[in-house]
Amino acid sequence: MTPTLHPGSLLTIDALPIPEVASILALTARLEHMPAAEKAKLLTSRRIALLFYESSTRTRTSFELAAKSLGAVTTLVSDKSSSIEKGESLKDTGLTLRALGAECIILRHPASGSSFVLARATGLPVLNAGDGMAQHPSQALLDLRTILTRLGLDTTTVHAKSLSGLTITITGDILHSRVARSNAMLLPRLGAKVLLCGPEPLLSEAALGLAEGLQITRDFNAALAQSQVVMMLRIQKERLAGLDLDLTHYIDHYQLNEARLATYAPRALVLHPGPMVRGLEISGEVADGPQSAILDQVTHGLAIRSALLVRALGAKA
Ligand code: NCD
Repeated sequence: MTPTLHPGSLLTIDALPIPEVASILALTARLEHMPAAEKAKLLTSRRIALLFYESSTRTRTSFELAAKSLGAVTTLVSDKSSSIEKGESLKDTGLTLRALGAECIILRHPASGSSFVLARATGLPVLNAGDGMAQHPSQALLDLRTILTRLGLDTTTVHAKSLSGLTITITGDILHSRVARSNAMLLPRLGAKVLLCGPEPLLSEAALGLAEGLQITRDFNAALAQSQVVMMLRIQKERLAGLDLDLTHYIDHYQLNEARLATYAPRALVLHPGPMVRGLEISGEVADGPQSAILDQVTHGLAIRSALLVRALGAKA
C-alpha cells in the first residue's frame, strides 16, 4: 500500500496550481489583518515539529514564531543534539515525532527529495523548508508576496498574468540554489520573464531543463538593464567543493554593488533570501539601500508561513 501524501503538505512549488497560490496569498492577508487574540486560537495546542538537518535563521525562526502566534506548541529537533547524530534515519525520526503527537513537520534536509520521504513515511502534513539543491517552496511564496507588495500589485488575487511585462533576474549560485529553482518554477507561471544569470560553473545550460519563460545570460549588466526585479543569491561555499570558481572574477562580473545598480538598474527592486555574504555577491550599501526589499522578505516570510501552517492543519480562517 502506498500511503497518500497529506493534502496540507507543501513539498514542491510546482505542485501548487496558481489558484492554490492565490488562495494561500489571500489567507495570508486575512491572517495579517486578524486581531492577535483571535489568531492565537486558530491552532491552539496543535503540535508542530521543526526538524532541521541544516542551519537556518530566517526559515526556522519564522516558522516557529508563526506557529506560536497561532497558538501552536512547537518543538525543535536538530541534527546536532538529537539521535540523528547517532545515525537514526529520517523515517524513524519522523515516526518518532508522530508517536509523540506531532501533527505537522517542517523539514530542512540536505538531500533533495527528503520531504517526500518524510511525508510518505508519516502521512503527516510536511512543509518543505529546503531540501538539498531542489526546492524551497515557502521562500518562493514569500518572494512573490514581497515583489507584489513592493511593486504595488494586488497580493490577493494572483493569476497567470499577474507578473506580465516584468523581467526578473536571478543571479548567483544558481547551481546549488533551491531558492532559484523554486522561484524559476513559480514566477514564469504568473507571467514574468525570468533571466538566470551567472558564470558557467554556477549555471550550466546542460544542467538546466529550461522551462518556458526562463532564459540564461552571462551578462549581468545587460540583464540588470532589462529588469524590474533582481534577486541575488549567496555563493554556497559549503556546496562548492570541486568547483572551479574564481571569486575575484565573480565579484568583478556579478557582484551587485552601488555603481552597477545605479548605472544599469537605478529603479529595480533588490531581493536576497539571506544569509548574505556582504562584499561577495552583494555590497553592504546595496543591501542597506533604498532599493533593497531584503528585510521585507523576512517579514513576509512570517506571514506566508502562518498561512501554510493554517492550511497544513486544516484550520478555518
Ligand atoms: C536559503 C536556503 O537555505 O536555501 N536561505 C533561506 O532559506 N532564506 C539560501 C542560502 O542558504 O543561501
